[in-house]
Amino acid sequence: MNAPTMQGLDIQAPSYVKNARLIAWVAEMAALCKPARIHWCDGSQQEYDQLCEQLVQAGTFKRLNPAKRPNSYLAWSDPSDVARVEDRTFICSKNKDDAGPTNNWMEPSEMRATLRPLFDGCMRGRTMYVVPFSMGPLGSPIAHIGVELSDSAYVAVNMKIMTRMGRAVYDVLGTEGEFVPCMHTVGAPLAAGQTDQTSWPCNPTTKYIVHYPETREIWSYGSGYGGNALLGKKCLALRIASTMGRDQGWLAEHMLILGVQNPQGQKYHVAAAFPSACGKTNFSMLVPPPAFDGWKVTTIGDDIAWIKPQADGSLRAINPEAGYFGVAPGTNLKTNPNCMLSLQRDVIFTNVALTDDGDVWWEGMEADTGALPAHLIDWQGRDWTPEIAKETGAKAAHPNARFTVAATHNPALDPAWDDPAGVKIDALIFGGRRSSTVPLVTEARDWAEGVYMAATMGSETTAAAFGQQGVVRRDPFAMLPFMGYHMSDYFQHWLDLGAKLQAQGATLPRIFTTNWFRKGEDGKFVWPGYGENMRVLKWMIDRIEGQAPGRETPFGIAPQYAEINWSGLDFTPAQFDSVTGIDRAAWDGELQSHTAHFDKLGERLPETLRQTQQRLQQRLAEHA
Ligand code: GTP
Ligand code: SPV
Ligand code: MN
Repeated sequence: MNAPTMQGLDIQAPSYVKNARLIAWVAEMAALCKPARIHWCDGSQQEYDQLCEQLVQAGTFKRLNPAKRPNSYLAWSDPSDVARVEDRTFICSKNKDDAGPTNNWMEPSEMRATLRPLFDGCMRGRTMYVVPFSMGPLGSPIAHIGVELSDSAYVAVNMKIMTRMGRAVYDVLGTEGEFVPCMHTVGAPLAAGQTDQTSWPCNPTTKYIVHYPETREIWSYGSGYGGNALLGKKCLALRIASTMGRDQGWLAEHMLILGVQNPQGQKYHVAAAFPSACGKTNFSMLVPPPAFDGWKVTTIGDDIAWIKPQADGSLRAINPEAGYFGVAPGTNLKTNPNCMLSLQRDVIFTNVALTDDGDVWWEGMEADTGALPAHLIDWQGRDWTPEIAKETGAKAAHPNARFTVAATHNPALDPAWDDPAGVKIDALIFGGRRSSTVPLVTEARDWAEGVYMAATMGSETTAAAFGQQGVVRRDPFAMLPFMGYHMSDYFQHWLDLGAKLQAQGATLPRIFTTNWFRKGEDGKFVWPGYGENMRVLKWMIDRIEGQAPGRETPFGIAPQYAEINWSGLDFTPAQFDSVTGIDRAAWDGELQSHTAHFDKLGERLPETLRQTQQRLQQRLAEHA
C-alpha cells in the first residue's frame, strides 16, 4: 500500500497509532505548518541517542567529556531566548473576565486569526516531531495525555526526560482516548535548500504562549526555551490543569512534594509553593544536618503537584512530571548534594559554562573546588576568566541556566514518587523571596488565614522569567505566571475545598509560610538556608504533633527560639530575632499592598479574604 502523502510529505502514522482524532490533527497541522518531514517519536533510548547526535551535528548540542559527564550535552540558547516570557503568555478564554486581571487575554477567534498566518509554513525545511506524553503515571486514572507537535529536536529530547514520553502513550490513547493538543514551533522557517541558520532557532522578535482553556489547546510560537516550549510542564500541567481542577474539584499547583521521616519511622508529606527560582528543587532534595541523625527527606516532586481530595477527606498529591528542569547556579555539594549526585550523567544542560576539559561549570560550583576555574567558555560562547568576571561582572552561566535530568537519577527519590495513588499531604507551605519584612516561618491559625497568606504572598522577581529582577510583586500561591483562570475564582476554589473537607470532619493539612531570604545590613542572607531548612521543617512537624506551643504573632504562630533544634548550628537569639521580627511600619506598608492587590482582583475576590485582612489589621494594631 502506498503511504498517504500530502504534497510529497509522508503523513502516514505508524501502525501502532490508532487514534483517529490524533491522526487527523497531525495531518491538519502538517498541512498548516508544512514541515519537510514528520517524525513520530517512539520514546526509545535509541531515538533519544539519535536525536542528541543530530543536535550535536547541528551545533545545538556539545557532547560533554564522556569521562567526566557521560551521555550528557550542553546547549546554549539564543541570548534573546533564556526564560519564560510572561508578557507574551495568554489565557484565551471566551470571556475576558474568566482569564481575570492577572492574565493577558485575547478573544479566542482573534488569537486564532493572529496565530494562523504565523503557523502557516512555520516548519518549512524542518522536521515536525510528534511527541506523545503522559503527565502522571502512564495509564493511571489521574494522568492526562498530551501530544506536542514541535519542530525542535531539543524539545523532543527534553520531553523524553521530563515526561513519560513515547509509544506506550499511543497504546493508552487507543482509538478514542482524549489528549491535549500542544502546537509548538520555534518560529524560524527555512528557505528552500537552507539547512539551518543557527544552532538555536527561535524568533527573537515574535513570541506567543497561548492557552485556550475551554477547548484545552496550547499554541506556542517563537521560543525554544523551557516553560515556553516544553508544553507538558507549565502550559498543560499548570495552566490547563488548573482549569480542569476548578471544574473537577482538585488543585494543580506550583509545588514540590517531599516526604519527611523521623527517627521513629513516622513519615509525613509536605507540599510547598515557592515562586520560580525560590527553592523548590532544593527543599525537595534537602539533606538534614548531621544533628538530625535518623531523619530522612525524600523527593516526590520538585515543581508541580496535582492535589486531589479523597473520599476520606484527605488530600493526596502526585507529581505529574518524570524529570527535573532545575536551576543550575547556586547548586553545589554543600547546598544540594542530592542534586549534584543526580547530575553525574545523562543530563542536558542549557546555558551553563563549558570548562576546558569538556565539563560544565556555573556560579556556585567554586564552593566544591575551592577556587574559580582559570578559564571557561561562557554561556554565550565567549572567553571567561576570573579577571574578566571581576572587571565586567560577566556571568559564566546565565542566572536561569538549567539542567534536565530524569527523576530516577535522584538518590533521594521517594519510593512512592510515581505511585498513582499519590501521597497524603500533612502540611502545605507557601514561601516567597523577601529580603525584608516577612518572617522565617509562621503557621496560619486556620485554613482561611492560610489561604489569605498564600493569596497575598509577595516575592522578588528572579531570572526565571524575562523582565526586571529583584522587584517585589504579589505572586499568589506562587501561581501568578501559571494561573489558567481568574485569580479570585482560584482563591474561592481553595476556600471551598477547605470548607468541603472540614464539613466532612477531615483534619486539613496545616498551612505554613516561610521566607529563607531575609537579608542583614551587610546585604547577606541571615538564614543559612538549604539543609538548615530542616530545622524549620522539624518545627512544623512538632506543631503537627502538638509538641511546640509557639507564640502568637499578628500573622500566625511563630516558633520561640528554644523550640528550634539548634544543635550543630551557631545561630544566636539576636540573629533569630532579625529573621523573625515583625516591623510594624513595614507591615503597615505590606498590608496596604495587599489591599491594592485585592482591589486589582476586583469584585470576584472572596469576601472571606477581606474579612481575614481586617482581623490581621486589628492584630497588628494591637501588636506592641
Ligand atoms: P523553578 O524551577 O524556577 O520553579 O525554581 P525552584 O523553586 O525549584 O528553585 P531552586 O530550588 O532551583 O532554587 C533557585 C535558586 O535559589 C538557586 O540558586 C538556589 O541555590 C537558591 N536557593 C534555594 N534554596 C535556598 C535557600 O534555602 N537559601 C538561599 N539563600 N538560597 C536558596
Ligand atoms: C519556572 O520558571 O518556574 C520553572 C522553569 O520551573 S520553566 O519550565 O521554564 O517554567
Ligand atoms: Mn517552576
